[in-house]
Amino acid sequence: MIPSRETQEKIDAAVREYPHARSALLAVLHLIQSERGYIAPEDQAWAATRMGLPPAEVAGVVSFYTLFRTKPPGRHHLQVCRTLSCQIRGCRELLSYLEEKLGIKQGQVTTDGRFSLVTVECLGSCGTAPMMQVNDDYHENLTRERLDVLLDSMK
Ligand code: FES
Repeated sequence: MIPSRETQEKIDAAVREYPHARSALLAVLHLIQSERGYIAPEDQAWAATRMGLPPAEVAGVVSFYTLFRTKPPGRHHLQVCRTLSCQIRGCRELLSYLEEKLGIKQGQVTTDGRFSLVTVECLGSCGTAPMMQVNDDYHENLTRERLDVLLDSMK
């Protein structure tokens, strides 16, 4: 899908911010994902052409960063931090609890499209581990009880 005219203007502005177009790739991919919710193969091809980069380079960046999605997420996109502080504070148990409660494994979307569940690298909130990001919001110092309340609030 070709980004909207508005997003293309933001992309052009982002590219102008850098001395080399390649340096704007993360910003460009963010803008594409913000509009569509994920970055499809055709989006990657469009970005490569627009920026004059090899398609493999764009694909490599998209697959390297866990913050980029290549499939449509659920309405509530649950991103559980899996890095050290969160591991020490029990993120694996919370992930298992979420998988059981939602009836999906990480990387999947519920059949009603309400939730998607993934694990991600450190989100920079280690002091309030374990934590996860849901869409744009952080939820910290998580427990099973807090997850119950949170999921119930997401209709
Ligand atoms: S380790 Fe989880 S936020 Fe840093």
